[in-house]
This record gives sequence, C-alpha cells and structure tokens, in this order.
Amino acid sequence: MTTDSHTTHDADEDLRNRDIRIWINGKLVHRDEAKVSVYDSGFLLGDGMWEGMRLYNGTWAFFDEHMDRFFASCKTVSLDVGMDRAGILDALTRTAAANDMHSNVHCRLMLTRGVKIKPFQHPSLSRTGPTLVIIMEHSKPVDSLQSAGIRLATVPQVRGLPMSQDPKLNSHSKLNCVIACLQAEAAGADEGLMLDPHGFVNTTNACNFFIVRQGEVWTSTGDYCMKGVTRQKVIDLCRADGIPVFEKNFSLFEVHGADEAFLTGTFGAQTPVASVDGKPVGNGARPVTGRIRKLYKNLIEEMTAGPG
Ligand SMILES: Cc1ncc(COP(=O)(O)O)c(C=O)c1O
Repeated sequence: MTTDSHTTHDADEDLRNRDIRIWINGKLVHRDEAKVSVYDSGFLLGDGMWEGMRLYNGTWAFFDEHMDRFFASCKTVSLDVGMDRAGILDALTRTAAANDMHSNVHCRLMLTRGVKIKPFQHPSLSRTGPTLVIIMEHSKPVDSLQSAGIRLATVPQVRGLPMSQDPKLNSHSKLNCVIACLQAEAAGADEGLMLDPHGFVNTTNACNFFIVRQGEVWTSTGDYCMKGVTRQKVIDLCRADGIPVFEKNFSLFEVHGADEAFLTGTFGAQTPVASVDGKPVGNGARPVTGRIRKLYKNLIEEMTAGPG
C-alpha cells in the first residue's frame, strides 16, 4: 500500500506541452491564446459533451466506439455537432499534425452549445453554433500508478438516477463526480468509490471499477455509470479469453473481500487499486489484473499497428 498521493490521470511531465496548439472551431492556436467566450454555454452552464481519446502509433484507439458515444450523447441533449464523424477525424488529424504528435498522446474533444447572447440558461440563447475545442497533450501515465496502485475511499456522494442527469452522459458538467473526488480527498484517498442509489457499488468519480474474486471478474450492471469504452473492451477481452466476467450488483462486502480490484479508463487503461477505505485489497498479488492488462495492450497494438 502506498502513502503517496496519486490521481488516475498522473502523467510524466513533458515540456513539449508548453507549446501545443489547440483546435478552436477550425483554428489552431497556441495554448496561451486558446480562449473561448465567457458567454459560452460550456462555461456558463456545463452544457456540452466531451470524449477522452488516445493516439497510438498515429491511430486513435477505438475511434468508432468513442464517436458512437459522443454522437449519441449529443443527440440526447439536442446538441447539433455540425459535422459528421469524418469531420471530427479530420479535425483530430490536423491538430495532431500541427503538434507533430503520433503516440502517447491524450486528447480531450469538447463540444458545447456555443456562445450565448445573454448569460442565461435557455438553449435558444446559444446563437453561434457549437464550439468545438480539441486539446491534445503528450501524455504518458506515470509508472508508479501501476506499482503502487490507487487508494479509494467510499464516498457519500452517489451516482444519479437516469431521470435526473443520466450518468451515462459524458457531459461537461461533472459536479457530481467532482464532489465525490473532494470527499475522497478529505478521507485521505486518491479517488472516490461511488455507490448507486440502492447502495450497490457502482464506479469511481473518473473511472470504471472492477473487482476480482476467485478468478471471476465483476463490475457493476452499468446502469448508473458512464459506460466506458475501456470497460467494454475489458469485458469483451475477458469473454474472448475465457475469464469469467459478470456485470452485476455487489456491495462493499464483496469489495472488501476481493482478491484484486482495478479501474478502467482511456488514460490509464487498467490501474490497480491498492486499498479501499484504508483496507488493502487482497494480498497485493494481481495476476488477473496483469493478464487483462496484457490482453488490452495486445489489442491496442493490433488495432493501431502500421503507419496509421
Ligand atoms: C465518470 C467516468 N467514468 C468512466 C470513464 C472511463 O471511460 P473510458 O473508458 O471511455 O475512458 C470516464 C472517462 O471519461 C469518466 O469520466
């Protein structure tokens, strides 16, 4: 168990990031000049959708899956993307080229409802068309995340019901997750383990959550979490490789008795969990997490082989 503080998005410092170019509605500008209006719907209300993606060997990993989620999210909230997925890919390609980026690159693609004529909520006040911003950074997860693992604390903040703000939407507004993260930090942990409205273990504030018990891999039903692209890849890889995997309800009882636990997300792939609520996970051995990590790495290599 570690006493060093981590976030699941800790990356090695890369000085090249000081001079990156950011895409803002078709223009590529230095990060110091990259600005959106204070009247932008994203700034005023958190009214927008985003995707986190990674570039490996010149190829965006699981681009179609990210676009399926992005376009479905935008459609759900009547946010007109203003281009098709080929247009998005073109914007990504231009941004990567402007920054001479090929691998170990993380991208945050963000679309808001655009600039409003008044600082109020109604969507019809957004008159400019959407604001599309792409931030790409050189980004390699720190090695210590793999060895030390993440410390989780179960937090009072729960996942929402789908009829309030559906947690499947990857919206700009992440206040529910931010509050959970603050609570975890106050409890001396790195990230918050969030329950669903019924008290079953659901997900963390920034990643999806898995446990391993007697060779079986368990994750939540998916009803109250952001359905991560990495989460689905892990489920598919387990099925293909004969690892029993279940999407089911479970409680903290099963978490505290788990042999292994790990988080999934585009940035860190699979990040081991060292402790939950100050209790070490298992005996510290992580054979199943290690096997899944290898399968995922192979999949990325297969999908992104070649010139890209
Ligand atoms: C709340 C939350 N859960 C899970 C994830 C992981 O999703 P993915 O695997 O698609 O990166 C994210 C990533 O943005 C997230 O914000």
